[in-house]
Amino acid sequence: MKFSINTQATHPNQDDTLVLWVSAEQKASAALNILSTDHQSLINALIKQKNIGVEKAVVESLFVNHQDALGQVVLAGLGAQQDRAGFEKTYASVAKKIVAAQIARASVDLTGLSAEAAATAVSAIALAFGDAAYQCLDYQQGGKVHALTEVVFLSEHAETLQAALATANVLVKAMNLAKDLGNAPGNVCTPAYLANQAKLHAEAAGAQAKILDKDDILALKMGSFWSVAKGSTEAPYFIELSYNGGAKEDAPVVLVGKGITFDSGGISLKPGPGMEEMRYDMGGAASVIAAFCAAAELKLPLNLVALVPTCENMPAGNANKPGDIVTSMKGLTIEVQNTDAEGRLILCDALTYAERFNPKAVVDVATLTGAVIIALGHVGSGIMGNNQDLVNQLLTASTTVNDKAWQLPLWDEFQDQLKSGFADLRNIGGRPAGTITAACFLSRFAEDYPWAHIDMAGTGWNGGSEAASTGRPVPLLLTYLQQVAHG
Ligand code: BES
Ligand code: MN
Ligand code: ZN
Repeated sequence: MKFSINTQATHPNQDDTLVLWVSAEQKASAALNILSTDHQSLINALIKQKNIGVEKAVVESLFVNHQDALGQVVLAGLGAQQDRAGFEKTYASVAKKIVAAQIARASVDLTGLSAEAAATAVSAIALAFGDAAYQCLDYQQGGKVHALTEVVFLSEHAETLQAALATANVLVKAMNLAKDLGNAPGNVCTPAYLANQAKLHAEAAGAQAKILDKDDILALKMGSFWSVAKGSTEAPYFIELSYNGGAKEDAPVVLVGKGITFDSGGISLKPGPGMEEMRYDMGGAASVIAAFCAAAELKLPLNLVALVPTCENMPAGNANKPGDIVTSMKGLTIEVQNTDAEGRLILCDALTYAERFNPKAVVDVATLTGAVIIALGHVGSGIMGNNQDLVNQLLTASTTVNDKAWQLPLWDEFQDQLKSGFADLRNIGGRPAGTITAACFLSRFAEDYPWAHIDMAGTGWNGGSEAASTGRPVPLLLTYLQQVAHG
């Protein structure tokens, strides 16, 4: 999908759709003028008859003839308030309609909007088209490929929209990468595959990749990570990506992603129904890799590191057993009371490894708990951290791009739930506040720098009949990095 800007509208032909916006006063946007006067009257009558514009997300389409061809016109009701959520909602319907009609190109009229509203619209509409056009056809035959490949925004603010446009192009591409990785089956997206993809995409974006293998993991004494990895026949890897767009002395931002390519639960085996979705347990890794590559591609002026411990969580004769005590890279001993709480076991060693970068901030992203889905559903990610400024920055980014997230409290009282009778701490805190106690566990390994944790178990994956990877929270992460880079 390619997004571009044009100042001039052209009449829609058979491969082309013209999308007009309709105001709350039921007036169609300016590109209406390129249609014949007959078509203009027809459209104005239709707007009145179907009551388009007054409310957002009311969308209607019709065909108009021009030089022996039929072109499609879509009318998108904007409602009174032209905010980001409104654009998203309205243009999600528009995009679905256009994709379903197998049309190659959409021209989206933004003329008449202020430069600021147009920039918001470009971002929101691009993401809506990105979602509607995305397909995962790699694993089936005879799938119908969507025709839509190009969206042209029509605006008199072409100059000022260049930055929003560049971001939109890179962000949609990054979300598609995260979706592809998340949707890929576990027998394709293995730790080795994830490491290769990370290296490939990072290098293509002009960044560096270092892939540590099992021997390196052992030499680093990542005993907690290894305790999860050792039960699988797939070799684990530790992925380290680095991009230096900032001044040499600038402390980097470090992103850490959970890269469990399949989570069976291990000896604490998960129930069968829905277990296939656990191929998505590398969703944190996917979004970190994708956001990292996007930042590098946009040449953001900052230094950035992405760390991904990746392995499978499998039952085996040599797998972690409930009650096992393992020693983390930090030296803290951990009683593994439930082998299904494996995400924190691999992340804790990555958080210790992050110390070597003297980071400005560390943000880890993980499908860490089912409990966050109980708390925030598939709507919001859970955010926790040891530094309120950092949490606020992430929440601001979240609001800016409407990639919803909500802070949960990391009160000291919760730490008690992680006490073990035998080790320095245990890897589960019982049922109460499961998302928070998971974060409390991580906090013990993140004491030396500003740190925040994003639990995206609910937002990274659509439940139900449309079960698939969403590409979230890539928008939140990239927006955060842009805000760090540009102040
Ligand atoms: N990968 C899961 C969390 C998860 C659950 C992600 C549902 C997406 C959808 C994680 O490794 C896990 O199993 N967590 C356990 C923790 C528990 C054993 C303390 C959970 O949430 O049940
Ligand atoms: Mn698990
Ligand atoms: Zn998991």
